[in-house]
Amino acid sequence: MELEILREEAKKKKSRVILAVDDPSHLNLIERLKSLIVGVKLGVLPIISGKAEEFIRRERDLYFISDMKTADIPDINIKIAEKLADMGFRGIIFHLFPMSLDEAVKLLHKRDCDAIGVAMMSHRNAVLFERNFDSLVDYGMKAGLDGFVVGATKPDYIRKAKEMTKKPILSPGVVKQGALPGEAIKLGADFEIVGRAITESSDPVSEAERIVKRERNFI
Ligand code: XMP
Repeated sequence: MELEILREEAKKKKSRVILAVDDPSHLNLIERLKSLIVGVKLGVLPIISGKAEEFIRRERDLYFISDMKTADIPDINIKIAEKLADMGFRGIIFHLFPMSLDEAVKLLHKRDCDAIGVAMMSHRNAVLFERNFDSLVDYGMKAGLDGFVVGATKPDYIRKAKEMTKKPILSPGVVKQGALPGEAIKLGADFEIVGRAITESSDPVSEAERIVKRERNFI
C-alpha cells in the first residue's frame, strides 16, 4: 500500500508531520494538533497504557503507526502484527536485522496495513546500521516493505534510501536531535516524525505550526 492513506492526507493538509507520542500523558494533544499533522506514531508506553485504542477509534481520520520496533522470530512477528492491526494501527514499524518479516508483511497487506522497516537510526552511535545499511534496505525490499525509517540526522542515507527503494521515507530526529524542520523533506524524505519538540513545548500548536510552515518551503 506504500502508505497511500498517509500520502493523501499529506497532500490535503500540506503537512508532512507525523506526531511521535512516547508519553501516555501526551495522547491528549492529538485532538489539538490534528489539523496540522498527518499521522501519529505511538511508542511502547502509550501502546501498553491501555489508552491507545480509545484514541485510535476517536481520531479515525489520522493514520496511526505503532512503533514497538518489533524484532522477533517470524511466528511471533505475525502474532504481534495481527494484534496491532486489530487495535486499529495502519502502519507497523519493525526492525530489519532479524530478517524475519516476510510472513508478517503478507499478513499486514491482507489487513490493508503498511509494514515499515528501520533502515537507519538517528543517534550518533548507530554505527552498526551504517555498516549494514545496504543489506537492511535490500532485505526490506525483498520482504515487500511499504516504507523505511531513516534518521533526519543522516542526510546521505536519506538520499540513498530514496534512490534504492523509491518508497516513502519517514525521518525522525527533527529539532530535538538536531535536524532542522524540512531538511529531511528537502533531501527526499516523505514525512518528518516529530516528538518532544512539539509534545514538550509550552505551546505545542504554535510549535507544530512553525514546523509545518518550514516544511512547506520544500513541498
Ligand atoms: P523526538 O522526541 O526526538 O522523537 O522528536 C523522535 C521519535 O522517533 C523515534 N526515533 C527513531 N525511531 N529510528 C527509529 O526507528 C530512529 O533513528 C529514531 N530516532 C528517533 C523515537 O522513538 C521517538 O518516538
